[in-house]
Amino acid sequence: MATIQSNRQEDFRGMLSRMEREGQLRRVTRSVHPRHISALCSQASAALLCESVEDYDTPVVGGIFWTRSRTASALGWPEGELGVRFAKAAARPLPPVTISDAPCQEVMMTGDDVDLTTLPIPFMHEKDGGPYISAGVAFAEDTEFGLNAGCYRMMFRTRREMAMDLFTASDLRRYYTRTYERNRPLPVAVAIGVHAYEHMAAAFKAPAGVNEMEIAGGLRGEPAQLVRGKTVDIPVPAHAEIVLEGELLPNGWTADEGPFGEFAGMQGDLKHNPLFRVNAITHRRNPIFYALQMPWENDWLNGAATEAACMRVLGLAGIHVTAVRATEGGCCGWSVVAAIKKRAGEGKNALTALLTLPVVKQAIVTDDDINIYDPNEVEWAVTFRCQADKDIVILSGMKGKHVDPSVRPWDLKPGELPTTSKFGIDATIPEGIPAFRYERIVPAFKDEVRLEDYL
Ligand SMILES: Cc1cc2nc3c(=O)[nH]c(=O)nc-3n(C[C@H](O)[C@H](O)[C@H](O)COP(=O)(O)O)c2cc1C
Repeated sequence: MATIQSNRQEDFRGMLSRMEREGQLRRVTRSVHPRHISALCSQASAALLCESVEDYDTPVVGGIFWTRSRTASALGWPEGELGVRFAKAAARPLPPVTISDAPCQEVMMTGDDVDLTTLPIPFMHEKDGGPYISAGVAFAEDTEFGLNAGCYRMMFRTRREMAMDLFTASDLRRYYTRTYERNRPLPVAVAIGVHAYEHMAAAFKAPAGVNEMEIAGGLRGEPAQLVRGKTVDIPVPAHAEIVLEGELLPNGWTADEGPFGEFAGMQGDLKHNPLFRVNAITHRRNPIFYALQMPWENDWLNGAATEAACMRVLGLAGIHVTAVRATEGGCCGWSVVAAIKKRAGEGKNALTALLTLPVVKQAIVTDDDINIYDPNEVEWAVTFRCQADKDIVILSGMKGKHVDPSVRPWDLKPGELPTTSKFGIDATIPEGIPAFRYERIVPAFKDEVRLEDYL
């Protein structure tokens, strides 16, 4: 049975333990085959810790960030404050500290002992190209830009090799391209099973040169603790469950990778990507393997940053925003709802500001009396405060994304980028209509009675 103990600085296990106490994680004691983990997680109302995994000694956890409430629980934040807290943390980065005696290096395997088949790497979705490590956080250094952390999926290929998805523009791709052009490998360490603070910071698209582990410190409220790798001189979270040390080989974009279930909820295509060769595996005693579940765990790792970005652009547009919600149906980024204290015209200003964010494709703006966490209230506002011919903003020819089939990416010429149209709904009370026209029904004498006194 996996023991979960917390350390002085809350680590992955401490986080799981707290989630369990909050009813956001359940243990499965019956033996589970790795190929059934995704199916079980997709049916569960909490994250699952599968304590006994057929043919492996390592327990597997999945579904940690599957919903807003689990994400909030992992972070230890109130659900309604994901964006606000993320924005504050990103504005107050804290440099990490390096420690020497790290739990993630309690056990070490090198040489012939390095064998990825000893890890319970699951086959996750019906049409995947192979088993995947979905929760890897890759760390690499560049002489100009310094330490970089990002989340990158990897498909199992051999006992020592995984194909890593470096298809899209990213800092790691930029680091790799530099070494690839010199026909040299890029040393990389991949941490599996890191705390939500480090995982979310790595998922954040920080500009090149910004050390994501400083943002992790901001999220934590204390410096993230790192340790230098044993065989690569790269720092990784000291309390990670498992670390794969190795190098991205200079084979370029040649190895089959995919298909894999993508973050937009659709099955992706076969890609060609670089190979990650693993030269050492270090781990904690009795490690826990984390099988991150697509698409919602990937999406919620971005949701707080999207909400923070929305608040930032609305602030720059001089708008008093009271709440922002990245919606799950919009994969926690493509669709957002914002509540504002409106002055004349600001419903449209707010929409235009939100739609300039690269990922946001649709937006709804309401007044601040609407509870934007309740989809029925939002629909009510759209129904009664919006006139379609005046209050829907459509912007066309904006930057789109290949992953969205509605932009027909297959029609593009090589190198051509997709464009998209976007729309926003101004569901604020239209200018000129007095507020009393929207006076809500209030039950008579509502403050005199409480239901629990009658049940
Ligand atoms: C769970 C998860 C998996 C991801 N997998 C990939 C991936 O395989 N390839 C990729 O290019 N981006 C992937 N991303 C997005 C990047 O991690 C994200 O853009 C990050 O900011 C990149 O960091 P970097 O530019 O500092 O390297 C993933 C994000 C998450 C949350």
